[in-house]
Amino acid sequence: MGKNILIVTGSNYTDSVYQAFYDIKKLGHKVYLLSDGSFEPRPDVFEKHFIYNLRETKKTLDYMKNQPEKFDAVTIKTSEWLTPLVALLAKQYGCIGNEPIVAFNCRSKYHMRKALEKGNVPIPKFKLCKSYKELINGIKEIKTPCVAKPVGGNASYGTFMIRNDEDIAALKENYENSIKFLRAKAIDGDVFAFNKEEMDLIGVDGHVDMVIDYLVEEFMDGHEISVDALVQDGKVTMMGIEDQIRMAPPYFMELAGRVPYICSKEEITVIQDIIEKTIKAMGIKNSATHTEIIFTPEGPKIVEIGCRIGGDDLHETILQVTGYNLMFESMMIALGIPREYEVKTRCHTYMKFLMPKKNGRIKKIFIPEELKQNETIFDMDTIMAEGDEVGLPPERFDYIGYVTCKGKTPEEAEKNAEDASRKIEIIIQ
Ligand SMILES: Nc1ncnc2c1ncn2[C@@H]1O[C@H](COP(=O)(O)OP(=O)(O)O)[C@@H](O)[C@H]1O
Ligand SMILES: [Mg+2]
Repeated sequence: MGKNILIVTGSNYTDSVYQAFYDIKKLGHKVYLLSDGSFEPRPDVFEKHFIYNLRETKKTLDYMKNQPEKFDAVTIKTSEWLTPLVALLAKQYGCIGNEPIVAFNCRSKYHMRKALEKGNVPIPKFKLCKSYKELINGIKEIKTPCVAKPVGGNASYGTFMIRNDEDIAALKENYENSIKFLRAKAIDGDVFAFNKEEMDLIGVDGHVDMVIDYLVEEFMDGHEISVDALVQDGKVTMMGIEDQIRMAPPYFMELAGRVPYICSKEEITVIQDIIEKTIKAMGIKNSATHTEIIFTPEGPKIVEIGCRIGGDDLHETILQVTGYNLMFESMMIALGIPREYEVKTRCHTYMKFLMPKKNGRIKKIFIPEELKQNETIFDMDTIMAEGDEVGLPPERFDYIGYVTCKGKTPEEAEKNAEDASRKIEIIIQ
């Protein structure tokens, strides 16, 4: 019998994600959308589009409770900040999903660390800091080199390294710049705080301010990857591993990524093992996951995990590389339909972020027509628009967009992406 599926989102979708909705509808199900109304979805896809201010978690739950429609499945693509809401909605309707506290523990980097510590997953030393004074003390306790990052951040906003006395001298300014950036994001971006009532509803032990509380962590020195894995009834399948290229310290913004990650069978086993331990320690049972790992000299350690599909190009990239549509799979998991996967590499990909070359306002973004016809480019997106203010750390943490190309080899994919990105003209005033 056809089921009602509720999709929660903070942004619009690409063709392949809409394809997942068409495919699930072909199986006889109905798809509904809940968003903050920041975009107009394609017509004829969703039975109904519920619009509400999704930063108000409790009010959104009540708003949905008062609707005549009831749901058999609730899921999400990538919007990290909405994962606790998805879990709460799933619980409200009695659907398959993660427990709200599990989703919250993935959102708050402090609670994540505590859950991972309890599960004996390898992680760096960490300390919660709720003010500048606590941050200074936290750095003394953890010792340099260390990393300061907001507990509720994403996309490396406000994350920086403290290497030495010089960095400590610049700390106050860096910290204040970051808090300013985070507070601005919390007005209309993808950072927001839960209120006390909401945290109590979720069952949070030890409240945190998701906008301005910081975590100080021991610096993990090494190469970083991310893993997108699907979890169904606790069974973990790795769908894609991205080899990440990041900014040189003291900042960590991602610059580019390659899929698949080229490594030995033994290394894959090591990755599978740490991913399984992490998912178990967090208590994730049924959803997509996105995990970041750094290979330190003491072995792999977890940077973080989210109970959602990886962002930016990863949905498109994993579809190109493996043929699997993670949005479709997330809906199947939410519906409780048993899935079997056979993950193979069909091509190589390279995603390159378009970064601001300087701080200022974007005057023009010019994408030549030839790039729109270029068949090696399968995903190109501009996150920022003309007129937007952009900049680099320490003042800002902005990505303008990205371009993702495929190739028969990793080298070919990289060359295609480098060539394409050079042709995109971005003028900043
Ligand atoms: N303890 C750490 N040691 C080394 N690098 C870190 C550490 N914590 C974070 N980073 C770097 O900062 C990036 C952003 O931190 P992360 O915890 O993933 O937050 P976000 O939600 O912003 O992605 C990571 O991908 C990694 O490159
Ligand atoms: Mg991260």
